[in-house]
Order: sequence, then C-alpha cells, then structure tokens
Amino acid sequence: MAKTTSFSCTACGARTNKWSGRCDACGEWNTIIEDAPLSAGPSKKSLGNKRGAAIQLTDLATQETPPPRTQSGLEELDRVLGGGLVPASAILVGGDPGIGKSTLLLQAAARFAGAGLKTIYISGEEASAQVRMRAQRLGLTDAPVQLGAETNLRDILTTLDTEKPQLAIIDSIQTMWADNVESAPGSVSQVRAAAHELTTFAKRKGMSVILVGHVTKEGQIAGPRVVEHMVDTVLYFEGERGHQFRILRAVKNRFGPADEIGVFEMTGSGLSEVLNPSALFLSERGEPSPGSVVFAGVEGTRPVLVEFQALVAPSPHSQARRTVVGWDGSRLAMILAVLEARCGIPFAGLDVYLNVAGGLKVSEPAADLAVAAALLSAREDAALPKDTVLFGEISLSGALRPVGQTENRLKEAQKLGFTTAIAPSGGKAGGTGGMALRQFGDLTAFVGDIFGAG
Ligand code: TYD
Ligand code: MG
Repeated sequence: MAKTTSFSCTACGARTNKWSGRCDACGEWNTIIEDAPLSAGPSKKSLGNKRGAAIQLTDLATQETPPPRTQSGLEELDRVLGGGLVPASAILVGGDPGIGKSTLLLQAAARFAGAGLKTIYISGEEASAQVRMRAQRLGLTDAPVQLGAETNLRDILTTLDTEKPQLAIIDSIQTMWADNVESAPGSVSQVRAAAHELTTFAKRKGMSVILVGHVTKEGQIAGPRVVEHMVDTVLYFEGERGHQFRILRAVKNRFGPADEIGVFEMTGSGLSEVLNPSALFLSERGEPSPGSVVFAGVEGTRPVLVEFQALVAPSPHSQARRTVVGWDGSRLAMILAVLEARCGIPFAGLDVYLNVAGGLKVSEPAADLAVAAALLSAREDAALPKDTVLFGEISLSGALRPVGQTENRLKEAQKLGFTTAIAPSGGKAGGTGGMALRQFGDLTAFVGDIFGAG
C-alpha cells in the first residue's frame, strides 16, 4: 500500500499533498509542515460494502427541554455565553497574549465553582505557584477551584476521568501535547488533535470545557481555524494596549446570539465588569469639538454609545492617507466616495484619520451616518451640537437607509443626557422617549441642513 503523506500550514490550517516553501492559501513563508501519518490505512472499498448499524431517527417535534445553564454571576460573561454556561459545551476563548485571558478565566473558574460546579483549571503555561499568586492578587484564594499544571494530554484526560469535574479550563490549547501525534506542541497537528480529544471527551462525559487560544498577528487563533469548528462557542477577548477596557465578543455561539459583547475593565485587582459601557466610552469626551460625533450603536442585544473622531488635514504626500482604527477601512473609502460623488464634497489631497474612542471595534453599517458627519465636521472645522447622537446606513446612491432597534438607541441616548437624534427618514415608528428626532431621506439634505453647505 502506498504511503500517503499530507501537509498543513501552521498559519491558516490549509492542507496540501506536497511540501512547499510558501503556503498557497495564506501566502505565509515556511509554515508548511508534514502531518502525522494516519494510523488506519486508506481503503479503496466503498463504505456501502459492509452494513453499519441503523441510526435512530426522530421528528422535528421532539421536545427537548432547554439545557439548565449555570450563571457565573459575572453578568458580562453570562450574557456573552447566551445566558450562562451550558452543560457539556465546548468553548474557545481567543485573544492576544497578555490581553487578560488567564485572568478572566481564573475569575470565571472561581465564580462557576462558587455557583456549585466542580471546576478544574489546568495551566500549561504557568507553574501552579504562579497561578496561585495571581489568585491571591485577585482575592480568590478561598475559591473551591482545583488547580493543575500539566501539558501532557493523556495525563490530563486520565485526571479528568477520575475527578469528574463539571467544568475544565485548559490554558492554553497551544501548550497541550498529545503523545500519539508526532509533532511539536503548538503545531497544527497537535492543536487539532488536542482540541479534538478534549471536546469529544467533554461531550462524552457531560463536562464543559473552556479552551484558551492565542491569536496570531493576523488575527487568527494560532494554528488552525479548525478548532473553531470543533467547539460550540467562540469568544474573542479584545482590547487596545494602553487602554484598560477589554471586550469579550461572541463570534460564534450555538447556544445564544453571536455578536454579543461583554465589557470589562482591567484593574490592579483583576477584571471588573462595566455594566454601563456607554458612560465609559463617552467618559473622556470634553466640550464639543470639530470631528467628534456620538454614534448610537447596538452591539448584540445592547445599545452602546460610542464617539467617532475624525481628523482631515491637507496631505503633504502625493497619495493622501486614509487611516482607520476601530472601523472598516473599505467602508470609509465608500463613504468618502459617496460624499464626493453625490454631495460634491471632495477629499482629494486631504489626509483622513478616523478613530473609535475607547478601543471598541464597530462593525455596524448603521455607523455610516456618524462617520460621514465626523468627516464633514472635521473638514468644515464645525462642531456638531453636544447633545446630539446619529445613526443610519448610507447607500451608494447617497440615500439614508433606516436601521433596526431605533427605540433602543434613542432610549440609551436619552439615558445619557442626549436630547436630539439624527436618523434616516422612515423606519419603524415608535416612541422617541422625549428625544427630538431629526430625519433626513438622503445625505445631501443632511449635509445642507447641518453644515449649510453642499
Ligand atoms: P493575563 O491574564 O496573564 O493575559 P493572557 O493570559 O491573555 O496572556 O494578563 C496579563 C496582563 O494583565 C498583565 O500584563 C498584567 C495584567 N493584570 C492586571 O493589570 N491586573 C491584574 O489583576 C492581573 C491579574 C493582571
Ligand atoms: Mg495566559
């Protein structure tokens, strides 16, 4: 029988059948490595030649009771999980090294253990003494969490099998080592094998497992994307270095809404919850200044107000700069093009900088109108009134499109002391909750009215 060899890229997880210096899928150099050989030889015989067992089929009406969830009491975490931890679920928590994953999970472990779940925390990165020191700093030394420092997967599985915890936390999946796979810890084959072993073990034994994964520079959980497919829930822990805010974002969740966020603040004694993120994101805002506007956004199920800041200045370069932090660069290019083509406001020869204050990443198209307003306000050097929020999507024709959850956005704005909202015409009529609502059908009308120019 011919030996079949396959190769994987350690950066993106793509598979090929020959080695090369550069990965065709992601373009990275020196990332292709040989996979461990498959133990069972490939068979040419069709599966249909030998009868398997019949599967039990059911109809759609089968009533399953919703799984009993365990709440950690950390509201920001429970909401992102979809309302608490589901038994026998597998969760991946990804994030940059140093962002606070171990801190978050040690705090979560203590809370879940306090809520009655038997919890084991396995650290493959730090010695038990180090984890205990962190626990001391976090004031968690009395929490009934069992601690282990180990990287050998076989030993870990044996321990979990005897101890029978309801929750196991593995920090991190990149340090785990399966002795039946012939490659170094952290390689694609090892990460894939370890994640597979742990998630299938968890499902079989009815234990929940939380895997920690480091993210590479390219923003992928290091090694294979395949881990994301094996788990029920994928959470990313994000934040800007130099900012104390940390955002836990659900990017996939079989047991709840994706796109939900939880907001935390890193303090000297661990992560504390931020129950009113709008107040936090607007806290550094001073008097109204040109280029600064407030967007009434929605993240997951919760309205969040954020400040967009723009700076527009004559460019000394032959090609003007477009720099964006916290929003999509190609969406910015689109809005600049619409302002130029539909409203006759050119940005050629001008450098444009756009920033979302507080380190939040906004992905809603509903932010279009706020972005356009920030750009115009910066370009015209004219501040918008302090008490105004904006939201609305802009189409290529220059029309303003209504967006969902108007009432929620208005309510949040009013709660934070705003009195006026600028929004697209149409949309679901509902209570404005005492807010003055100024509506425009297209961008030209908005520009003419607010900036008195065209
Ligand atoms: P850590 O949880 O080790 O990050 P990760 O597991 O994602 O690599 O946290 C790293 C940073 O958090 C570290 O630079 C110190 C800081 N930190 C605090 O500011 N306060 C604290 O209470 C703790 C435990 C850590
Ligand atoms: Mg860590």
